[in-house]
Amino acid sequence: MNEYNTLDDFDLDDKTVILRVDFNMPLDKETLDILDPTRIKRVLPTINELIEKNAKTVIIAHQGRQGSWDFTNLEKHAKTLEKLIDKNVKFVDDIYGEKAKQGIKKLEKGDILLLDNVRKFDGETEKKSAEEHSKSDLVQNLYPLADIFVNDAFAAAHRAQCSLIGFTAVLPSCAGRLMEKEISTLDKILEKPDKPSVFLFGGAKFSDVIVTIDHLLQNKTADKVILTGLPANAFLKAEGVELGYKNEELLSKEGSSENYQEIKQLLSKYKDSIYLPQDFAYQDNTKRSELELDELPIDYNLFDIGEKSIENFKQILSEAKTIFLSGPCGVFEKPAFMKGTEEIFSYVANSDVFSIVGGGHTVAAVEKLGLQNKISHISTGGGSLEAYMMGKKLPVIEALKAAKNKSF
Ligand code: 3PG
Ligand code: MG
Repeated sequence: MNEYNTLDDFDLDDKTVILRVDFNMPLDKETLDILDPTRIKRVLPTINELIEKNAKTVIIAHQGRQGSWDFTNLEKHAKTLEKLIDKNVKFVDDIYGEKAKQGIKKLEKGDILLLDNVRKFDGETEKKSAEEHSKSDLVQNLYPLADIFVNDAFAAAHRAQCSLIGFTAVLPSCAGRLMEKEISTLDKILEKPDKPSVFLFGGAKFSDVIVTIDHLLQNKTADKVILTGLPANAFLKAEGVELGYKNEELLSKEGSSENYQEIKQLLSKYKDSIYLPQDFAYQDNTKRSELELDELPIDYNLFDIGEKSIENFKQILSEAKTIFLSGPCGVFEKPAFMKGTEEIFSYVANSDVFSIVGGGHTVAAVEKLGLQNKISHISTGGGSLEAYMMGKKLPVIEALKAAKNKSF
C-alpha cells in the first residue's frame, strides 16, 4: 500500500479539487510562447480522470520566478491545455481574490479553471512548514471552497512552497497520477533495481553528481557508474590527469578543493565500479578530432567522448538490466559532438533493458534523437529528481505522507 493517498482513495463526483501541477515550461524569449508542452502533456492522465469523474477542478501552477524574463501569466498555458484536452479551460488573472473565488464557485461538474501564476503571491516561495503555509492568505482564501487537494507537481516536489504543501494541512490530500508514477518508478530503481544496474552521469555540472554517486554506490543501488561530460573531467582531474587550461577553466567555475577531496575518497572506496572515458573528441578548427587519455593535456575543449570509450561503455551497458541516464555524454547541441550521446542513448533505447532518463538536458537530447518512445520512463523532474536520487526527503512527498494519517 502507498504511504500517501491517490485518486483511488476519494469519491470525486461533484467535488471541488485543487490540483497543483508543474507547468513551468521553456518559453520563447521574444514571443513568450510555450516551446515544449511536455509537462502539460504528462499531467493529462490526472486532468482527464478528474473530468471523467465529474470533479470541478481548480488548477494552480507557476511559471518562472519573480524578476525573471519567463515570469508570465498563465493565459498561454490555459490555451495549450485547452487544445490538448479538447475542452474549454477557464482562466482568471487572479489567484485568491474575488475573481478567483467567484470563478471557483461557478464551476460545474467536469469544468477546469486555471488560476494565474501562483508565484505572483509573495508568500508562495517562502520556505515554511505545511502548517505555517496553511495560515497564508492563499490557503485561507481557497481551501474553504474546496474538498480535496491533489498534488501532481513532481518536478517541484523539492520545494517547500506555499501552494505545494500548505493545503495538505487543511484538506484531504493525495498524489496525482504523474506523481504516483514518478515516485513508484524511482523507488523501484532506487530500492530494488533489476541487477546489474548501471547509472550514467554526464552533462555540464558535477558537484551534485559526487553526492549522488556516493549515495547510489553505498546503498548498492548502482553496481556500476559510467561518467562522461564534466563529471568525467572532474574525476580525471582528481586522479591527477592534466586536462589543459580550457578544460581546467571550465571545471574551476564549479569545483572547489573540497570537491576533489570527495572524489578522491569516492575513487578509493569504489574505484572498480566507476568507469571513466579513455579517449575524447575535441574541435580542431571546425572538425571533430579524437585523442587518447595519455595524449592529454590539450589546448582545446573536450566536447565528447571518443570511439573507444563509446564501445567500452556499450559493452558495460550490454550486461545491465536497469540503466539510468542523467546528462548527455558531450556537447550534443553541436552536430560534430553528438556522436557519443547519440550512440550511447540509441543503444540503451533500442535494447530491452529498463531505462530511465531524467533532467532537462537529457530529456532534450532524447527528444532530439527521437528516442522518447523507446525509453521506459522519462522523469519530468530536474532538481527534484536530483534530490530524490541523493536520498533526500522531498517536502511535497513528505507532506502527502503526513496528510494520509490526518482526519479532517
Ligand atoms: C523547476 O522547473 O525546476 C520547478 O518547476 C521548480 O521551479 P524553480 O526551480 O524555479 O523553483
Ligand atoms: Mg528549477
